[in-house]
Amino acid sequence: MKHQMETEILKAEVLIEAIPYIRRFAGSIVVVKYGGSAMVDENLKKSVIQDIAMLKYIGLKPVVVHGGGKEITSLLDRLGKKSEFLDGLRVTDEETAQVAEMVLSGSIAKALVDELEGVGIKAVGISGKDGRTMLCSKKLDEKGRDLGFVGQIDKVDTSLLDTLLANNFVPVVSPVGVDGMGNTYNINADYAASAVAGALSAQKLMFLTDVEGILKDKDDPASILRSLNKGQALAYIADGTIKGGMIPKVQCCIDGLEKGVESVHVLDGRVSHAILLEIFTTKGIGTMVTDKESV
Ligand code: ARG
Repeated sequence: MKHQMETEILKAEVLIEAIPYIRRFAGSIVVVKYGGSAMVDENLKKSVIQDIAMLKYIGLKPVVVHGGGKEITSLLDRLGKKSEFLDGLRVTDEETAQVAEMVLSGSIAKALVDELEGVGIKAVGISGKDGRTMLCSKKLDEKGRDLGFVGQIDKVDTSLLDTLLANNFVPVVSPVGVDGMGNTYNINADYAASAVAGALSAQKLMFLTDVEGILKDKDDPASILRSLNKGQALAYIADGTIKGGMIPKVQCCIDGLEKGVESVHVLDGRVSHAILLEIFTTKGIGTMVTDKESV
């Protein structure tokens, strides 16, 4: 009996710990990049949808930007379309870009809208084409090679997103863009998320990944950096502490900050309710990157 009472009180403590964050973040725009395991595992999917619903009900303004590389690959396979890769990056011909659009906008975004509507949240799927939200041009790879219809974002027009947010919708954004001539581009979802967050002057940008956070040693989860600022992040890259696959992640964080986002978070999407734990607890569970002098 006593034990049960203690558990109940603990639940209240969790809610109380959230008060300052609810106060601080109510009304704030939070862009969530949804990808990785959290998009595949049914339980994790449910937990992400619940977290987003919770944010909305508390009064934050979530915006979802989703990925879908695996799903694109699997439809291309089913269609018997062979993909060509250059250093691990898919060469995206016109047909591939069309398939990517079908999967991202047609299938994934609509399924997310259904899930959100299922928990009582008004949601709308858009891509960079709708309202010309993301205008693109061709992005060359690091070596200056043409990979086809891979887009770099030249301009984000937030008018459609603003309208949706003002009318209480949760926008679900597919990383598909268009150029002035009407060509379709596949955009890297991390990059799309940070462009959207910057253009909306979001308070938070959260990346759901398949790692604990930003790690000093990629093989040691205990080496997670809980919080760092831009200067520290750059210094860690320069001195080789942050290396390999961690670098593009950290660069995405810095990119978000440079575009005006207040804090960028790298979270482990394999943990249920990672989003809520990060936003509404003091310690959080991932890595928080800010522009502040010292953290
Ligand atoms: N809940 C607070 C926020 O969202 C603090 C999060 C701290 N997280 C961290 N990884 N150090 O701003």
